[in-house]
Amino acid sequence: MITLDDLWRRGREFLGVQYPIIAGAMTWISDSSFVAKVSQAGAFACLAAGNMEPEKLKSEILRTKMLTSSPFAVNLITIAPNYLYHLDLACELAVPFIVFAGGYPRQAEINLTRQSGAKVMAFAPTEAMARRLIDNGVDALILEGSEAGGHIGHVSLTILIQQVLFQFREVPIFVAGGIASGRLILYFLLMGAAGVQLGTYFAVTEESRAHPRFKEALCRAQAKDAVATPQVGSELKVISVRALRNRGLEIFTDLQIELIQKRKRKEISHEEAQALVENFWVGALRRAVEEGDVETGSVMAGQSVGLVSKVRPLREALLSLISEVEIEWQWLQQKLGLS
Ligand SMILES: Cc1cc2nc3c(=O)[nH]c(=O)nc-3n(C[C@H](O)[C@H](O)[C@H](O)COP(=O)(O)O)c2cc1C
Repeated sequence: MITLDDLWRRGREFLGVQYPIIAGAMTWISDSSFVAKVSQAGAFACLAAGNMEPEKLKSEILRTKMLTSSPFAVNLITIAPNYLYHLDLACELAVPFIVFAGGYPRQAEINLTRQSGAKVMAFAPTEAMARRLIDNGVDALILEGSEAGGHIGHVSLTILIQQVLFQFREVPIFVAGGIASGRLILYFLLMGAAGVQLGTYFAVTEESRAHPRFKEALCRAQAKDAVATPQVGSELKVISVRALRNRGLEIFTDLQIELIQKRKRKEISHEEAQALVENFWVGALRRAVEEGDVETGSVMAGQSVGLVSKVRPLREALLSLISEVEIEWQWLQQKLGLS
């Protein structure tokens, strides 16, 4: 008969950690210290390269390697200005995993990563993209539903599960977006997921370096408060961000309107306007996470925010998930008459 260990096995072996639960990269939060703490607790962590200066990323990778002997990933934003430097660095420093986020890795970038010995993970927002990424050699996929915090796609996890998880068995698939309970994790494992990725849930742990006001805002918020940013018109490409509704979101809408008007008056190039849109988030997230500006900063969070209400030590938060998985497994076995 199938055991819970059987359900955990694929993800556990792929990631090389006790629990195939990924603390998703969170720019300004997922630094070397946080990664090491997640690893020490038995889960899998991602160092967020964000928009870091390459030298800073280098020292963060080296520091992570010093602090933990467990495998970890470096999360690279393919649209970040220093992306190609980041990629070279991560490969040179032989990090065990690279997660490509923000866009898709090109074939040459996947090849380079694999040659360095790192395993490649990438986000698959559609069935066609999942096929292409697998054919191009990625080792695992992440399915992130639009319930998630941070930059998001438009499709919910329920749909991605049917379009991608149920269609592809050849590589491990980790699911993300809206997860904050072990009960749900069990059902994803039963559906064929190799594991899960959580962001918001780990952002409110004691070890997260987010400002106390950031964590407090997350603890107070309800699921409906984590909203996706609107795109004004179609002139500028806006990758939606899910964050708590605040004045920062209004400022962002105003910024888009102002940039569109400037474009009409030909006062700014499309590239400049686009860069201002993206830079808005980098700066706004930093202000919220580091300075605790939860009014005009960007308090990025998933709808899972409605399921977190207190700041806890990371290990306690992780073990609570694991014990919920186990309790639900017992319950399910009884319900099915298997125990
Ligand atoms: C504050 C914050 C920052 C994030 N930054 C990144 C990032 O730099 N790179 C990335 O791939 N995902 C980023 N994410 C997404 C998370 O890694 C994760 O996939 C997401 O939070 C999952 O949804 P959940 O918050 O409902 O658990 C961020 C999420 C949050 C909440």
